[in-house]
Amino acid sequence: MASIKVALLGFGTVGEGIYRILNERKEEIKREMGCTIDIVSILVRDKEKERLATPGTKITDDIQEILLNPDIDLIFEAIVGEEPAYTFLSDAIEKGFHIITANKTMFAKHGPALLKHAEFRGVYVGYEATTAGGIPIIRTVTNLLPTDRVLRIRGILNGTSNFILTKMREEGIPFKAALHEAQTLGYAEADPTDDISGKDAFRKLMILSALAFGTQPNWQDVSVVGIDKITIEDVADASKAKLRYRHVADILIDEKGTLHGSVGPVLIGTHHSLYGVEGVDNAIIVETDYLGALTLVGPGAGMYPTASAMVGDFLQMIGKREKVLVNS
Ligand code: NAP
Ligand code: HSE
Repeated sequence: MASIKVALLGFGTVGEGIYRILNERKEEIKREMGCTIDIVSILVRDKEKERLATPGTKITDDIQEILLNPDIDLIFEAIVGEEPAYTFLSDAIEKGFHIITANKTMFAKHGPALLKHAEFRGVYVGYEATTAGGIPIIRTVTNLLPTDRVLRIRGILNGTSNFILTKMREEGIPFKAALHEAQTLGYAEADPTDDISGKDAFRKLMILSALAFGTQPNWQDVSVVGIDKITIEDVADASKAKLRYRHVADILIDEKGTLHGSVGPVLIGTHHSLYGVEGVDNAIIVETDYLGALTLVGPGAGMYPTASAMVGDFLQMIGKREKVLVNS
């Protein structure tokens, strides 16, 4: 039986989720795909940190141990920030590894270059987990694109912000305490400023823009506002008026082909499809010329939803995704 050898870059919330899913679904994958998956190495920053035991898998802090291992077929990347992630993945593609990433900070900026490089080298790049956690938005837009023209994409793209706004309204929990809870649950970024300032949603919007429109607007032309100035009193006042704050990222293309993007809090009425999107959920409305409007809602952050999106990329790459899901 064939054995697919993989390495994980990062063993935090997301990396551990991938490890758990690949182990928990080992038998189903073996039965349905006719192969075993062997997690050969895991790259971390601090080898001494106490973490989940990984018998048979080497924990390393040296990327070269992975990049110079000719047995490894694929790399899952779930580390933090633009660098060294971009350099690691460029080198990996150059050496012929397939890659699957969750790192939107890196991918918003370098995704187009990585995809081009990968096409040239004939390797696979999966990036479903970079945008909207477990929602299969990359797959959905990719599948629509041969026929439909995307006109607009908007929605809630940051789970932490939506979680905080929900906690403030539903439970009267102050901003800081709600943020702390989002961090404890593994939803927030290593630096949560990116979540509450709108930067994280902006990066996801740029990833969607590159996919849907083949380009991104000038980053400095996109207004980006976070939820960090919204008080518990603001939320309560909105509630009295039957309105809810939602943090909305929006990009559309006008008739001249110019892109217009914005990210910021919006007050939403009961009639709106984003009104009922609660907690860590994200929601995305995709508008196209043929299909009309399609809304996808689901968990936007967290260990299993994010790791599931990455394993979904992996199974898609192997080409048996639907069969495995049906039988698991
Ligand atoms: P995390 O819990 O902070 O874990 C990060 C992991 O990466 C840790 O194991 C850390 O090593 C390792 N690491 C960081 N910098 C490194 C470096 N320079 N070299 C080697 N290892 C390094 O982060 P996370 O929540 O899992 O997120 C990982 C990535 O997924 C981020 O890019 C994030 O934006 C993205 N993401 C996260 C979520 C989510 O819900 N959490 C959802 C979608 C996407 P140590 O353990 O030794 O510190
Ligand atoms: N910090 C991000 C969020 C993780 O809360 O949406 C998922 O990308």
